[in-house]
Amino acid sequence: MKRGRLSTLAFGGLLLALAVGFMAFLTLRHDAAQGPGGVGGPFSLVDHEGRRVTEQDYAGRFLLVYFGFTFCPDICPTDLQVVGQAMDMLTSEERQRVQPLFITIDPARDRPAVLAEYVRLFHPAIVGLTGTEAEIAAVAKEYRVYYARAAGPEGQGPEYMMDHSTQTFLMTPDGRLASLFPTGTDPQALVAALRAAMAKSGNSR
Ligand code: NI
Repeated sequence: MKRGRLSTLAFGGLLLALAVGFMAFLTLRHDAAQGPGGVGGPFSLVDHEGRRVTEQDYAGRFLLVYFGFTFCPDICPTDLQVVGQAMDMLTSEERQRVQPLFITIDPARDRPAVLAEYVRLFHPAIVGLTGTEAEIAAVAKEYRVYYARAAGPEGQGPEYMMDHSTQTFLMTPDGRLASLFPTGTDPQALVAALRAAMAKSGNSR
């Protein structure tokens, strides 16, 4: 009796250890897919031309990822201008290896046509991405981007403001975070980081 109970306990313990090990394995695999730090990941969104796209559509390229919204009065335009300037400073060969993405955190207002008009103000290479509320929430979570309707009167009515994180992410073609740029970064710094990341990954596309 006592012995039987002990082996039941041991068996239970073994099962628990296996379960914990398997969970750790899954977590590690998940992190590996996202790269160090676990920033970024796969997505399914709609581009500013109304096409359904995933990260596979930009495979082989460095991504400059920015989350914002077109009603943003100052921060988003400033950051996108820097991205546009950096794109212009690259050689055309380098430019072909870089895809800037503007992902809206305000999909209710930022439909493809709105995004199309907006991104072309900054650079023809920038692709605007939108989606359902759930799709935007999923990609923002992967990039650990915070966003919310502004509190108080600013968040009311049709002209509501959004609060959001304002970093530009430089992702490598294999989905790793290479650099993170805060608002106010100058385009030279972005270009330098892009060139360093390109040199590190070799000339292969
Ligand atoms: Ni903004």
